[in-house]
Amino acid sequence: MKVPFVDLQSQYQGLKPQLDAAISKVIEESAFIRGRFVAAFEDEYSKAYGVKHCISVADGTAAIYIVLKMLGIGQGDEVITTANSWIASSETITQAGARVVFADVEKDYYNLDPDSVAQKITPRTKAILAVHLLGQPANLEKLSELCKKHNLLLIEDCAQSHFATYNGQKVGTFGIAATFSFYPGKNLGAYGDAGAIITNDNALADKCKTFARHGASSTNKHDHVMEGINSRLDGLQAAVLSVKLPHIHEWNARRAQHASAYTRLLNEVPGIITPKIRENCSHIFHAYVIRVKNRDAVQEFLNKNGVATSIHYPTPLPLLKAYAYLGHNENDFPVASAYSKDMLSLPMYPELTDDMIQFVVDTVRKSVSG
Ligand SMILES: Cc1ncc(COP(=O)(O)O)c(C=O)c1O
Repeated sequence: MKVPFVDLQSQYQGLKPQLDAAISKVIEESAFIRGRFVAAFEDEYSKAYGVKHCISVADGTAAIYIVLKMLGIGQGDEVITTANSWIASSETITQAGARVVFADVEKDYYNLDPDSVAQKITPRTKAILAVHLLGQPANLEKLSELCKKHNLLLIEDCAQSHFATYNGQKVGTFGIAATFSFYPGKNLGAYGDAGAIITNDNALADKCKTFARHGASSTNKHDHVMEGINSRLDGLQAAVLSVKLPHIHEWNARRAQHASAYTRLLNEVPGIITPKIRENCSHIFHAYVIRVKNRDAVQEFLNKNGVATSIHYPTPLPLLKAYAYLGHNENDFPVASAYSKDMLSLPMYPELTDDMIQFVVDTVRKSVSG
């Protein structure tokens, strides 16, 4: 048997007639840029989140950059984010002109540690960029408290956590704004790059929309009220996302079921640490991450025996060459550094079968016993 890490083909086959029809319709109407498909998706997504505004953009990276920039964060400011994420969470802080400040991650949850964040706050700190990594909400209660206490903005990077909840409330609705990626492999994925910003702040929504459309006013495309950038969701991606959106809760539930099957079976395999779900939270399992000693050897064994895996992420962000100028070492981020050597992401997608899960677990068992 072979188990891929993700399987976008199976999802496509399940929705082929609807997806093909939606794509054809965009082409027939030549609604490639802006137009009714983009407007419809923005409306559907804001309704699904129960927020006032959804501003669609080209990708999840642009979404973060635009929010930071339109919040007026820039030179002289600091933004604190997690040591364990994809570089989009931090490079956008630098792009906005601010200084990125990394904090360590919480034990067991792989997300921003509020105690570490508290130690990094200075008079220059303007915002905390919380990433809900792997599909698990960050510690929003404590991070929100810190923001309140120090008058900071909370921005949520929800690229890996569409519709995950914290105490029954959707992540992405706790801060001033939240950003999403619809990269094809995400829980809600387009057929190319795609992203969005959600917010209840009317003024911020207006600014983000204007900035992302070359600074053009909403009523006259030749009236540029500011210099902006070009960051648009295209009609084809919007149409694909509209077909997929009604299925996201079912897909997330299936991922969670697969995760509990993995956990039940892997808890019987010596040496495997299975993921913990934060109390009162729904974890949407964008990735199913175990920790295991000799991770690289285990990964090689799995790959050789038909189980594709990944690592989220092999190097903590502050230890990447891109951040050498910050002068950090592993001791500055003991938890993130330790986890980066042990973490291993197993195949996870809604279409996994019981047989596939059993095969993955059996192969993991063989890899650690032999
Ligand atoms: C946590 C996180 N933030 C931001 C992004 C950026 O999204 P995109 O690839 O759509 O630009 C990603 C994408 O991988 C991500 O995983």
